[in-house]
Amino acid sequence: MELVNFREKWFYNEKRKCWCLTDVLYTEKAMAPEYQRLSIFVPKPYMKEKGVIDEEGRMNGYNARNVPVVFENNSAGYMQMKHKWLDDGRCMAQQYLDCGFVYISCGNRGKESVDEHGLLCGKVPANLVDLKTAIRFLRYNQEWLPGNYERIISVGCSAGGAMSTLLAVTGNHRDYEPYLRENGAIMEERDDVYAAQIYCPIIDLEHADLAYEWNFGADRENEASHAGPAGVMTPFQEALSRELRKRYIRYFNNLKLKHPQTDEILTLGDDGRSGSGYSYLMDCLENSAADFLRRKKDSEVSDGIAVNQYVSERKEWLDWDGEQAHIRDLDIYVLEYRRRMKPCTAFDILNGTCNENEVFGTAGHPFIHFSREVAESIQTLKESFPQEYEQYYESYRKDTVDEAQAQRVSLYNPMNYIGKGREGNAPDYYRIRVGAFDADTSWAVSMALALRLSEAGKNVDYALVWDQPHGQADYPGEVCGWIEQICRKE
Ligand code: DHB
Repeated sequence: MELVNFREKWFYNEKRKCWCLTDVLYTEKAMAPEYQRLSIFVPKPYMKEKGVIDEEGRMNGYNARNVPVVFENNSAGYMQMKHKWLDDGRCMAQQYLDCGFVYISCGNRGKESVDEHGLLCGKVPANLVDLKTAIRFLRYNQEWLPGNYERIISVGCSAGGAMSTLLAVTGNHRDYEPYLRENGAIMEERDDVYAAQIYCPIIDLEHADLAYEWNFGADRENEASHAGPAGVMTPFQEALSRELRKRYIRYFNNLKLKHPQTDEILTLGDDGRSGSGYSYLMDCLENSAADFLRRKKDSEVSDGIAVNQYVSERKEWLDWDGEQAHIRDLDIYVLEYRRRMKPCTAFDILNGTCNENEVFGTAGHPFIHFSREVAESIQTLKESFPQEYEQYYESYRKDTVDEAQAQRVSLYNPMNYIGKGREGNAPDYYRIRVGAFDADTSWAVSMALALRLSEAGKNVDYALVWDQPHGQADYPGEVCGWIEQICRKE
């Protein structure tokens, strides 16, 4: 566990101008050792030779002891994932290294991981616990590593965006201690981070089905995705979609989120397409479009011709006066621009054998239902859809009445750890970016996260990024600008 013994393993990457220590096992009690590894990449100036820190080295005004550390988890689809390599197509390391930051990519167990005996070992909260274990390991070894381990910036996308959020809001939280101990984490060290960059987070899974129907309910057809094959809603699904949408309105109103500037409580009207909560989401989408169009105009040599063309091709639903954008309404946006991706239900799947069902399973019961709201919704349809009720209800009921199970599910829901007296050592800084063309979850999910964090007094930079699909939705380099800004304060 002592990186002092790893000096000979460092090597220099000429193309990337960085020192590398790759494929390091971060726990001696690894149950899936192929995945529980990380790689460390260090800009050249902070190292003299293999594993020897250059105390005089400087880059972009930083030195080896004060430079921020970007800690990117590679979690995707809640699956087991290895850390990234610099030459992976999706690896964003270079932008961080070019700014002089230390960059660490971390692997993790996931929903399908098995130990050496073939037993499942990556269910909730293993993915998060691995990342916390890795951070403790890095802190323990900081003497031998360039970087300021009080300036860890967590980064992640999608399931990794969920993990990045959770790493931040559950820092050092006792809920995870038994799991950390079992995972061989260094219990004397801390796992909190300084800030979180969160891309397209797939969070609040207990309510994500509700949000999805509120958002995409007008569209009766879904694409093929990991949540199911392409299809058209059955009458039962249409009725279920309406019930889930109704429940989302109730859930959203109970969140009592506040407008970050005016403090007004945000609500949804009974129709789901009115009220200050609805207007706030539409404002976010319109700001996203306006930001995109302004940049497009500024980058044009030919007086906005391409911008005008862009807008005119979307004139059924998008207006632009040169400054502000206006979107007609959310249903048209969905039907004309970003159609629904997932079926109804989208997360806690009716046949119970998809992605998220697998995340919350146990070794003996690999797929489970986890949304009481979906269970109750099916129950309300007992009279009108007796056959579907018979087919689906009991398995939802059985899985979701179990209190211990509900506790396990809650370990992956950051909304439970913000502003409820249940906080971990949550940092001050959050940057949330979500594609305005992302239909993996409702846009309201990350909006609610941003609002909850703001209310808890956090510094939140939240925006939807126009035309960007599910992924690292961002304008080039802006994440680095944000890191500079929050780390150069003192
Ligand atoms: C991811 C995408 C999803 O649609 C989902 O439900 C869970 C995870 C992902 O890309 O990580």
